[in-house]
Amino acid sequence: MKKTILLAATSLIIWSCSTPKKQEEKTVEAPVESGLTVSSSDFGQMPDGSAVSLFTMKNDNGVIVKVTNYGGIITSLIAPDKDGNMGDIVLGYDSLSGYLKSSPYFGALIGRYGNRIADAKFSLDGEEYQLQANDGKNHLHGGVKGFDKVLWDASSFKNETSAGVVFSRVSPDGEEGYPGNLTAEVTYALNNDNELTFEYKATTDKKTVVNLTNHAYFNLTGDPSQTILDHELELPANTFLSIDNTLIPTAQTAVEGTPFDFTSATLIGARIGEENEQLAFGKGYDHCWVYTDSSDSLKFGGSLYDPSSGRLMNIYTMEPAIQFYSGNFLDGKLTGKGGINYQFRTGLCLETQHYPDSPNQPEFPSTVLEPGQEYYTKSVYEFTTK
Ligand code: GLA
Repeated sequence: MKKTILLAATSLIIWSCSTPKKQEEKTVEAPVESGLTVSSSDFGQMPDGSAVSLFTMKNDNGVIVKVTNYGGIITSLIAPDKDGNMGDIVLGYDSLSGYLKSSPYFGALIGRYGNRIADAKFSLDGEEYQLQANDGKNHLHGGVKGFDKVLWDASSFKNETSAGVVFSRVSPDGEEGYPGNLTAEVTYALNNDNELTFEYKATTDKKTVVNLTNHAYFNLTGDPSQTILDHELELPANTFLSIDNTLIPTAQTAVEGTPFDFTSATLIGARIGEENEQLAFGKGYDHCWVYTDSSDSLKFGGSLYDPSSGRLMNIYTMEPAIQFYSGNFLDGKLTGKGGINYQFRTGLCLETQHYPDSPNQPEFPSTVLEPGQEYYTKSVYEFTTK
């Protein structure tokens, strides 16, 4: 009994001399230890014997993101539907061997240059750089052995607000034909708002071009035996880039009155079969939408909704554009997770990026990186329901 009184007397004294006016009792909340976790496990070996890891990020809502340091590939993304049932909403393989054997960039970190570069070449200051033509006469997604097919250094982290993985590597001068030693660092982070954030950084010691993105294939039903044609898509873009029959941009075109108008949420399958030259060239949707807000602030970049499950994915990005690809090359030949053969249009990609072929199109926003500059961009994919 005596101790308390003494204490009370003492505190009263301290309290009274330091602060003249009556101060509110502030209870300092001890930081609630969030349930965010990141762990790593073995994911097999590369043909040269180097070990590959699989990182598993989990948040308090049961959202799980699995990513490997082989190609920065997201192998699984598990999120709740409107009734709280968890489902895997990305396409991919159960093991490393699937990715090593053949993958149309499932869940991959793409670079050095996302999408196509015409005729597999570009020039900088009068010097021409020849790249690998790995998509007909064009160059696609960084070449034959792009960032999606290399082993990255990886370290996981957890802080009060997120858990994640930092991937880093130096792409040597001349890799796949690109100039400059490019030091790249890409962070994937999950927080308790079900947001998966991608942060991309790079520096170079020689003038070069950079356009990094992620190539996840989404199917919000959680059942990739179903197509994505009943998903609703919204893209805040009044224009898109028309393409030629090799998918190289030819002009910036208004979406109004065309099957490319997603300024309000629209069923993907509603117009995909229409008689339309651009749909024919893309074999469906495989085009770059140019955001109406061309600033590099983190802005609303679109949303994808699946009415059957109630899953909604919102995108925010600093990038000026987004490639929407409706999975037109999936042909049932690839057997993915759970032994499912991925049929035509059972997954779609929403790749935030700069425009395709920008190195050859001076009127497009520049993708040039100079020594002394830092390439920095961020995109956030939020998983919710309605
Ligand atoms: C991107 C391209 C598509 C296709 C896929 C990968 O989304 O735009 O044309 O090449 O990659 O198969």
